Amino acid sequence: MIGKLNHVAIVVPDLEAAAAVYRGTLGANVTAPLPLPDHGVTTVFVELPNTKIELLHPLGDDSPVANFLERNAKGGMHHICYEVEDLSSAIDKLVEEGATVLGDGKPSIGAHGLPVVFLHPKDFCGTLIELEEVA
Ligand code: CO
Repeated sequence: MIGKLNHVAIVVPDLEAAAAVYRGTLGANVTAPLPLPDHGVTTVFVELPNTKIELLHPLGDDSPVANFLERNAKGGMHHICYEVEDLSSAIDKLVEEGATVLGDGKPSIGAHGLPVVFLHPKDFCGTLIELEEVA
């Protein structure tokens, strides 16, 4: 069901510092910060040959990653995003398997403008999973 690894998201306390580490120390291509007010985050993409790393920093009062940063002051891995071809049938199968789809269980438009859902970490080895429907 799952296809390619689309991205790994890391929440960071300082976006500039994190971008500098990836650009300088690790020698990666790093994009300019992109504020996504609707999603409560500012993102920086680290572009790798086979996937991307998304550096996330809270934006605004109601950020979905603010709590994570309170619990992990130095930042840390937040979620893994896998691609699926058909999100509705993926959700049906996951519900059938007993997995917990977060929120109202319906796809919403994610930070990249594509339909996504998040799956509860308790069912997936302690890892928050994002599924993204790619055309
Ligand atoms: Co993501």
